[in-house]
Amino acid sequence: MIQKNIQLDNQGRLKHLLTLEGLTRQMIIDILDAAESFTSVAGQAVKKVPLLRGKTIVNLFFEDSTRTLTTFELAAKRLSADVLKINVRTSATSKGESLLDMLRNLEAMHCDMFVVRHAESGAAHFIASHVAPHISVINAGDGRHAHPTQALLDMFTIRKHKGEFAPLTVAIVGDIMHSRVARSQIHALTTLGVSEVRVVAPNSLIPTAVNTLGVHVYHDLSEGLHNADVVIMLRLQKERMQGANLPSEHEYFQRYGLIPEKMALAKPNAIVMHPGPINRGVEMSSEVADGPQSVILEQVSNGIAVRMAVMSLVLGRPLEGTMT
Ligand code: CP
Repeated sequence: MIQKNIQLDNQGRLKHLLTLEGLTRQMIIDILDAAESFTSVAGQAVKKVPLLRGKTIVNLFFEDSTRTLTTFELAAKRLSADVLKINVRTSATSKGESLLDMLRNLEAMHCDMFVVRHAESGAAHFIASHVAPHISVINAGDGRHAHPTQALLDMFTIRKHKGEFAPLTVAIVGDIMHSRVARSQIHALTTLGVSEVRVVAPNSLIPTAVNTLGVHVYHDLSEGLHNADVVIMLRLQKERMQGANLPSEHEYFQRYGLIPEKMALAKPNAIVMHPGPINRGVEMSSEVADGPQSVILEQVSNGIAVRMAVMSLVLGRPLEGTMT
């Protein structure tokens, strides 16, 4: 069991962001509100605010990423921080240096924050447990455990389109079993008090402990989509599958692929989301991915403001009077 209270300081403020488990509704709302205040920065002639000037942020990505890595980097730069990306493949860890020795060396360079992606569940927690006290750690995705900033940007996107969380029915469709995104989304949605969270997948892609998550399970896509306000599609995470969980991608698409006829079963004003990367023709068709109900690229844009909010809150900088 991964401890959660390590992410709060003695005053109960966020020092690390490793998981959304243990965060209160108000803490999540505060992050979304802070993100709202950062959305205007993208429209400024000079896309920068001085909040984290003088701070040094290191992106430590041990696993591939497009969206998370680039939006964390852009967010840090828009906050005026200095940003380093460690290429783990060309770093001294490939010569046998241990992770802890690597951390000690980065600490010696007076860094303030590590943004960590790793294929092992618990990696960000391990790093947060071993860094010097002045350093904050943000989990950018660890194994199948958690991807808290992805879930926060998803909540931000839902709030933009739907306003209140309480009346919503949200259907999460696809590979729930291997998805760190689904776990973090479920924590966020249940903490924010949505009416119903559904997970829709074949039995082989539903985690055994699903009944502890506060969700309703559907194995039929049409039933799972009926009257949904928000439809979140997930990728088949083959890199985390051991053995064949599925007959074939073609058969999966026939049963669980989102096509316009299936989407019509959700509410007429329902939105379609996907954390990316999309596999067109596997979890959804291009007509849906690029269609009028898709907010997939908005999610990417919102990721910058949400990550600005998380980094500025974790490094303890107040927002008032700084948006210059
Ligand atoms: N959503 C997400 O984590 O995408 P990347 O793997 O490209 O960062």
